[in-house]
Amino acid sequence: MQGDFDAVWTGGHLATMADESGYGVIENGAVAVKNGLIAWVGRAADMPGRAAGTHDLRGRWLTPGLIDCHTHLVYAGSRVREFEMRLEGATYEEIARAGGGILSTMRATREATEDELLDLAHARAEKLIAGGVTTVEIKSGYGLDLDSELKMLRVARTLGEERGIEVVTTFLGAHAVPPEHKDDRDAYVRLIIDQMLPAVAAEGLADAVDAFCESIAFTPAETRRIFKAATKLGLRVKLHADQLGDLGGGALAAELGALSADHLEHASEESVAAMGRAGVTAVLLPGAFYFLRETVAPPIALMRKHGVRMALATDCNAGTSPITSMPLILNMACTLFRMTPAEALAGVTRHGAAALGLLDTHGTLEVGKVADFAIWEVESPAEIAYAPGDNRCLATIKGGQPL
Ligand code: NIG
Ligand code: FE
Repeated sequence: MQGDFDAVWTGGHLATMADESGYGVIENGAVAVKNGLIAWVGRAADMPGRAAGTHDLRGRWLTPGLIDCHTHLVYAGSRVREFEMRLEGATYEEIARAGGGILSTMRATREATEDELLDLAHARAEKLIAGGVTTVEIKSGYGLDLDSELKMLRVARTLGEERGIEVVTTFLGAHAVPPEHKDDRDAYVRLIIDQMLPAVAAEGLADAVDAFCESIAFTPAETRRIFKAATKLGLRVKLHADQLGDLGGGALAAELGALSADHLEHASEESVAAMGRAGVTAVLLPGAFYFLRETVAPPIALMRKHGVRMALATDCNAGTSPITSMPLILNMACTLFRMTPAEALAGVTRHGAAALGLLDTHGTLEVGKVADFAIWEVESPAEIAYAPGDNRCLATIKGGQPL
């Protein structure tokens, strides 16, 4: 049957997330799709035209597909031994300084073949998709030499092509100083600037560049040099900032025109205000906060005060957040950070899109945007965040097609 639309979802309720605050609820709504894009959205009773296929929501809720805007999900190896060590009293920083942590995952990732990494990444992505994810950002940063970094980024791109989800890649060469440069860290910074960044840019393998700006990783001055070089190559930047201490990372992200500053537990009001003025999105990662048993939560009240958009993500990685469930992240954001369920849902839709520079095309149910949806067995959108460990996602739709 021919129709004005390829498909329509109707018979339920929509959380469009199209408003700056709240869910943008349309009860008894309908969303129509043509050529993979949203062609119409509104009250079902008002829908014009006919659709070739109709999907009955049976009273359920439909939201934009979720956007996991900060992950490290391409990696090999396990960090379960470090989990035990921390339970015996060691801290994340101590383990990192003793050559474990990121470097332990680096060793396993360097050794793994591209196919092995891809299989591992597929398994993690499958769990994200089951929780409503249609777009995922994936960082390199466990290769820490040119070939291994390129390998990670290729795996991330291939994952997206093979599974049909949208993958946004980020080059995170500045994640840790690898052992071969431990006595000359400046040589590694120069390697990033002179060789890695140009290669990554030339091969089109990264959509953005990130750095871990922290006392156990890279200084603000090193970060500035790397980000200036990235910007010269036309790449956007984003920053792991103020997670373990306040190095002024939020303000640095604002100064350098970053898309986002991520973690931010220790960000000062000065940093938050600078982010507000510069329009830098905060990416909050309650999974890492929980898993490391941090006690200082990010300054949510200051972010509200200074109008900083708050995105949420899994931070999926072996060391600090082995989590592949966005509904769990929503719950943690509410429970641990006292965000409202509406703020949390905005954090994984419209603000997740903003953190990736994709808000024009993703993150809300609006005409002209990609037809990426998640369908939920809930009585109200707040229930998506309600029960820790529950997954109420019934279906994940990408470009109008079930994933
Ligand atoms: O976002 N903070 C740096 N990167 C990751 C952790 C990496 C690791 O420990 O493997 C994070 O928490
Ligand atoms: Fe991270």
